[in-house]
Amino acid sequence: MKRVALITTGGDAPGINAAIRAAVRTGIDLGWKMHGIRHGYAGLVADSFVPLGLRDVGGIIECGGTILGSKRYPEFKSEEAQLQALRILRERNIDALIVIGGDGSQAGALAFSERGFPVMGIASTIDNDLYGSDISIGADTAVNTALEAVDRIRVTASSHERAFLIEVMGRNCGYLALVAGVAGGAEAIVLPEVETDPETVASELRAAYERGKPHAIVVVAEGAKYNAEALSAYFKEHRERLGFELRVTTLGHVQRGGTPGAFDRLLATRFGAAAVGHLARGEQGLLVGLIKGEIAATPLTEIVGRRKKLDCHLFELAGVLAQ
Ligand code: F6P
Repeated sequence: MKRVALITTGGDAPGINAAIRAAVRTGIDLGWKMHGIRHGYAGLVADSFVPLGLRDVGGIIECGGTILGSKRYPEFKSEEAQLQALRILRERNIDALIVIGGDGSQAGALAFSERGFPVMGIASTIDNDLYGSDISIGADTAVNTALEAVDRIRVTASSHERAFLIEVMGRNCGYLALVAGVAGGAEAIVLPEVETDPETVASELRAAYERGKPHAIVVVAEGAKYNAEALSAYFKEHRERLGFELRVTTLGHVQRGGTPGAFDRLLATRFGAAAVGHLARGEQGLLVGLIKGEIAATPLTEIVGRRKKLDCHLFELAGVLAQ
């Protein structure tokens, strides 16, 4: 009989509950005892466990967030916290841990694996910056949430002949901004990966105005050198050159909440079941992700500390399409 614990750490993401449900039910199907750890690594260090049975994960596939709770816990980088966590896992006779989260979470997972404790990681972050998975749990739903906002804002922008800076999340990664920008037909996209001078954005807005567009939408990644606040401060001095009147909307945590779409539910379900499958085969120290459409597992040693590259061809295409 295996005793397996699940933990969700770092930023939550729509779809995580589907992964918990799949891991719990596939684990129980193998005769294992499944447990949840509350509030991420902080909860682990505080010994906060809950048993997870079949009924505990009923009615959660459609819920955003994480039923286990999550917390930012930078203290977990310390050896002291990691050793305390290991002690607790061993005292509770846990045989393996499944870590659902992004790069910080997987760095914690690797620390366990390197100390000989079996772990499996599951790629989950709306930022979609995790190496080892083309797409992570939550990214698709977050893009669709941002896209809905872009579409709505374009309507009012057109009515008032305004330009909007719409800032989206993503930390240092421009994935959300790029995809929401291209799919939302933005006139300009500002990313951390491509240094963009505010003058360039100003001239793109002006050009859109002169081509007779009734609106101009700029999707800005929060991690860009010139984020929405910096751009808007810059444009305050040079407003007449934009043509349009300017407004700013920061979407913020709106993108993290919400009901997971079908894509995320399915992806998370496959990830959860795959993580259990690897443990059942005696494998560990891997991150479950999606690579070229297939579920794939990559050693945590290869993914921690690396960042996935953004598809900059799409950015170049966006420039052409904005005409
Ligand atoms: O990593 C997910 C994310 O939503 C980032 O896009 C964002 O920068 C960050 O988390 C916000 O973190 P918090 O919820 O701790 O404010």
